[in-house]
Amino acid sequence: MTKDIKILAIESSCDETSAAVVVNGREVLSNVISSQIDIHKKFGGVVPEVASRKHIEVINEVVLEALSTSGTDLKDIDAIGVTYGPGLVGALLVGLQYAKGLAFSINKPLIGVNHIEGHISANYIQYKDLKPPFISLVVSGGHTFIVHVKDYGVYEVIGETRDDAAGEAYDKVARALGLGYPGGPAIDKLSKLGNEAAVKFPRAHFHEETMDFSFSGVKSAVLNYLNKCRMTDEKIVEADVAASFQKAVVDVLSDNVFTTCKKLGADKIAIAGGVASNSALRSKLLLEGSKNNIAILIPDPVLCTDNAAMIGSAAYFQYIKGEFAPLSLNARPNLKLGQK
Ligand code: KG4
Ligand code: ZN
Repeated sequence: MTKDIKILAIESSCDETSAAVVVNGREVLSNVISSQIDIHKKFGGVVPEVASRKHIEVINEVVLEALSTSGTDLKDIDAIGVTYGPGLVGALLVGLQYAKGLAFSINKPLIGVNHIEGHISANYIQYKDLKPPFISLVVSGGHTFIVHVKDYGVYEVIGETRDDAAGEAYDKVARALGLGYPGGPAIDKLSKLGNEAAVKFPRAHFHEETMDFSFSGVKSAVLNYLNKCRMTDEKIVEADVAASFQKAVVDVLSDNVFTTCKKLGADKIAIAGGVASNSALRSKLLLEGSKNNIAILIPDPVLCTDNAAMIGSAAYFQYIKGEFAPLSLNARPNLKLGQK
């Protein structure tokens, strides 16, 4: 029997400080997440400098808790996995420097993980038998991608947003509706009370060959609609606006990802990122998936939003390929998927 590989993973790319212990990339022994949402709420979005300071304050506690709840001693850890990009540079540096110090002190390898790759890998935790190839729809606050996962760590980006990420559009529309930060969960909840056919918002589709997205158009259309209503004293039904906006976003995400599957003959879509916890997106993909005979893989919400367990999973597949990082590894705020 081969030895189990235990990875201690650290994630601090945005506003969650998280540490996890993951065995063989699939089994989560602990996944501690300290969220800064309540702090950033006051500002209506993430303030990078505040995020870095908060990461510094809690990181040690978070790592110690991840070790203790997993029942693992540091000496039994085989490697330290850490997000080194993309993300906020100051926030990334906190986790990265901590991970480097720890790896050096216990004399174990350091593995630098791409945050987006982490999101995709959440599916390996949820679905123990999942193996590439498959299509992944990555929808988060900073990224929107359709990715062909050809093998572990081998990606081809099929489509991406040309402007706002899907989550960013949710957050901006929520702000205009006075729903606070983060906007995604608030719009998701409010939409359940609204009529998704009430307002016709635009759906951006480019020409046939590209699977790219654009969400700034639909966001501006919502803002213009709200301004027009306010100027003409027309009643705004917030739930209807939220539901109609959400329908426009979900329709485009679903259309492009199913077109991609048909083109490539793929039979699985694994969703990833914070917006993957959206209930309308989940139901639409499940419905279309059953019509088109395509399996829809949906990780639990806690694995969709930022967490270190997904980083531990991605790190494992790098570990078995011997992809270790030097202690000179630097943060890469604009790191692309597939880049080293
Ligand atoms: O993946 P994530 O935690 O952080 C990034 O890497 O960006 O994603 C955060 C984003 C935010 O924009 C948030 O509004 C959105 O995910 N989000 C949602 C939902 N839950 C979180 N968007 C729509 N519906 C949700 N239920
Ligand atoms: Zn993320």
